[in-house]
Amino acid sequence: MRALTWHGKRDVRVDTHPDPRIEEPTDAIISVTSSGVCGSDLHLYEVLSPFLDEGDILGHEPMGVVEEVGSEVTNLQPGDRVVIPFNISCGHCHPCSTGLQSQCDTTRTDGMGAALFGYTKLYGQVPGGQAEFLRVPQAQYGPIKVPQGPPDDRFVYLSDVLPTAWQGVRYADVHAGDTLVVLGLGPIGDMSCRVAQLEETRVIGVDLVPERLERARRRGVEVIDSSREDVVERVMELTGGRGADAVIDAVGMEAHGAPVGKLAQTLAGLLPDAVAAKVQEQAGIDRLSALHLAVELARRGGTISLLGVYGGNADPMPMLTMFDKQLQVRMGQANVRRWTDDILPLLLDDEDRLGVDEFATHRVALDDAPDAYAAFQEKRDGTVKVLIQP
Ligand SMILES: NC(=O)c1ccc[n+]([C@@H]2O[C@H](COP(=O)([O-])OP(=O)(O)OC[C@H]3O[C@@H](n4cnc5c(N)ncnc54)[C@H](O)[C@@H]3O)[C@@H](O)[C@H]2O)c1
Ligand SMILES: [Zn+2]
Ligand SMILES: [Zn+2]
Repeated sequence: MRALTWHGKRDVRVDTHPDPRIEEPTDAIISVTSSGVCGSDLHLYEVLSPFLDEGDILGHEPMGVVEEVGSEVTNLQPGDRVVIPFNISCGHCHPCSTGLQSQCDTTRTDGMGAALFGYTKLYGQVPGGQAEFLRVPQAQYGPIKVPQGPPDDRFVYLSDVLPTAWQGVRYADVHAGDTLVVLGLGPIGDMSCRVAQLEETRVIGVDLVPERLERARRRGVEVIDSSREDVVERVMELTGGRGADAVIDAVGMEAHGAPVGKLAQTLAGLLPDAVAAKVQEQAGIDRLSALHLAVELARRGGTISLLGVYGGNADPMPMLTMFDKQLQVRMGQANVRRWTDDILPLLLDDEDRLGVDEFATHRVALDDAPDAYAAFQEKRDGTVKVLIQP
């Protein structure tokens, strides 16, 4: 089969690999019809490269058609249409049964959370779904069956974007009338705004890419361009000096405006992989400007809901301010299966309140995926969400 393959920093190619086979009785094989490219893939594309090996297949937002199932997979049949959650979870361990599927004990490796598709040695090095075919472990639980009929766009975001945004808003704990600030208006921040609007929350979005700001503005989000305006000043003005009830950080480790973090990432990139991986795990290599901004923007007693991925263990945090302001901070990978049953009815409704049908800005064939990665990273050509259609 053909698959999007990592070769090195900013170097992904479409290569031929052996077709995946059933290896465990709980596996399924699917043929992939659509597969999203995520902001998390951009971390692999560049900053997290010490954790990848040449030949790794990327992608964790796939959907497709079941081709074959192992003997213990009784809930699926060949021909079923399924979306595959990005975290691989068993459904029966303690974390899974308490709604913490991203901490699944059955698939965790080396002191980290649940295995993830296409996400490096840190998360089990499981081949990803930007490929023609995918082996799906724990298929007796993970895959979400969706009806035939509507286009893939209607359902594909159940793998990651929708449950991540949903969890972000739940963790932000906003209620009707509250003010929520969303930092970053990539796919995750944009969808977080849409989910929050369902609750009649006032939503203020912050980014510095004009098309992304405009996209959110068209859907009724008040926007702040952080490259032109003082974000703290604007938010204080808009909230009568109090600050936001909650802030979602949908930016993560590669934030703009963080010279020290950028230098650390650049230096780590110059080290041999084995050393760089250790440095990245142990040291503070993140660009923390978005997270520090969230601390400033939240009102006293407010909540920070952290969706953006960070990777250093020694990142300096403003503990005095966080403690004194009595902030609540919640974070983590999305527990995909925890939320999908809540979200699915909204997708089956023709009203499309979340705007998923028009969410993708680009649809590309697998062969064009390497160019799409570059455009997404550089935020050019209006690229916000790319769907690869193998
Ligand atoms: N928690 C989870 O389960 C989960 C799931 C998916 C993605 N993520 C993470 O969410 C983050 C966003 O993902 P995405 O797909 O939207 O990526 P993205 O890279 O397209 O979006 C990030 C956005 O942040 C903006 N930005 C950069 N610096 C900023 C700053 N200082 N202030 C305000 N905006 C700034 C960028 O212009 C960009 O539009 C990534 O870190 C990704 O890894 C987490
Ligand atoms: Zn993703
Ligand atoms: Zn489990």
